[in-house]
Amino acid sequence: MSNSHIAVAIDGPAASGKSTVAKTLAKRLGLIMVNTGAMYRAVAWATIQHGVDPSDSAAVVAMLDEVEFSCGVSNNLSTVLVDGVDPGDALRQDAVNSRVSKVAAIPEVRSLLVEMQRDYLKLGSVVMEGRDIGSVVFPNTPFKMYIDASEEVRRKRRAAEGIIDDPTARDKEDSKRKSSPLVVAEGAVKIDSSELGIEEVVDAALEVLRERGAPA
Ligand code: DC
Repeated sequence: MSNSHIAVAIDGPAASGKSTVAKTLAKRLGLIMVNTGAMYRAVAWATIQHGVDPSDSAAVVAMLDEVEFSCGVSNNLSTVLVDGVDPGDALRQDAVNSRVSKVAAIPEVRSLLVEMQRDYLKLGSVVMEGRDIGSVVFPNTPFKMYIDASEEVRRKRRAAEGIIDDPTARDKEDSKRKSSPLVVAEGAVKIDSSELGIEEVVDAALEVLRERGAPA
């Protein structure tokens, strides 16, 4: 890792609560929170805009040369623009949910986005959440967590958010793909959030950071 900036890696399946935990942790510690799922969603959204079949990896890879994806930070939160446009809430739409695992399985998509994710560390210390942050993006960081929750709890959480999405179906696709599948990274501390409130999960995460010597 470059300079003195640290990376806190938070991985886990969809609706495990990892985004809320990452946001809260980043706020508490004054770090940049990076939502890597939004970057994969931006690529999926771009395939809709450009009429590209997300299962046709050659077409998706060709699209990467045509479309400019740029990442930044606003109010300590990561942002992603597609040809200068912020897709906003459209990143959460059903059509994106059903395409995102397909584009995320393409190695060229992953290598482009992983590079952009690593670049965030030049801007400051980060809390980064995703599926492969502790295993691929920052394998050397000691600050790694894997947040999980039971299938039932995850389905309920998505339903409560009013989102039409089957997180467990997506997780299956994300776990079985060849390129950087969802795994518990070596050295990651597992936290099961099924029975915990957000504050309890945040406290558990802060404890991991303290134990592993993160600067306060
Ligand atoms: O965190 P999310 O549900 O917004 O992520 C959307 C999809 O992006 C998810 O189904 C898998 C993929 N993803 C990934 O493959 N690697 C990451 N680091 C983050 C997300």
